[in-house]
Amino acid sequence: MGYKITAKENLSVIDFFMEVEAPHVARSWKPGQFIVLIVDEKGERVPMSVYYADKDTGRVGMFIRRHGVTTFKLWYEKQVGDELLSVAGPLGKPIEVKHYGNVVFAADAVCAQAECYATLKAMKEAGNYTIAIHSFETKDHVYPEKFLSKPVADEFYITTEDGSVGRKGHYLDVLKELIEQDKVDIVFAGGKLGSLKKLAELTRPYGIPTITTVRQIMVDGTGMCGSCRILYDGEVKFACRDGPMFDAHKVDWDDVIRRDSRFAEQQALARERYLA
Ligand code: FES
Repeated sequence: MGYKITAKENLSVIDFFMEVEAPHVARSWKPGQFIVLIVDEKGERVPMSVYYADKDTGRVGMFIRRHGVTTFKLWYEKQVGDELLSVAGPLGKPIEVKHYGNVVFAADAVCAQAECYATLKAMKEAGNYTIAIHSFETKDHVYPEKFLSKPVADEFYITTEDGSVGRKGHYLDVLKELIEQDKVDIVFAGGKLGSLKKLAELTRPYGIPTITTVRQIMVDGTGMCGSCRILYDGEVKFACRDGPMFDAHKVDWDDVIRRDSRFAEQQALARERYLA
């Protein structure tokens, strides 16, 4: 049996929203965990962050960037009512949802924009004061507000690099101010690896716990293939099995960034093929 696409909507010049029927995932997913999609028999396994998982409807929402063969296929060739071959998961370890105090989620890429909503929703339900910081490049990259974390955030910020929407700058700028105001007890974040490296350096001197998604190219998603290995506190860990969220202060970010560039060429080829 396939997994029906139940909704699809454009979010920006580069990202889109998609919802699929996957009751087994919706039943057991917890914030921090991810899923793996396979579009068809010839499809690769593509890990996805979860925006929401609704136990009642059995539906799972996600945000997707058009940047590789599979994601272009999902946007251009698959419509609402079509089915995907597989939606596997939930995979990875959940984050610990409990009362921390003031919880920030900082996001500057598609996966993290989804994780921001999912994480803050759970943290708010656990009695935390929640602060969302969504960073985008320009107004063309900003999502419609109904897809952002406002309903689950006590404080809500949007930044763009050029200041065309929200504040000019990046989540790092907003976070620095919040830290200086002593308003941050823990930071969760995901998105661009270079930003996460800077985030770890920003929070380290203050001793603020910082839990970030470490995105690596995944193949099997089960800890068998070794593709997503990272150096963590001097040891080898696998993002798919031991993460994907880790203590940012223990991650070897230079190694993570170097390994992430391995598939840049294939992604550029896919962009050429679909956007020509
Ligand atoms: Fe293969 Fe993680 S994806 S070990």
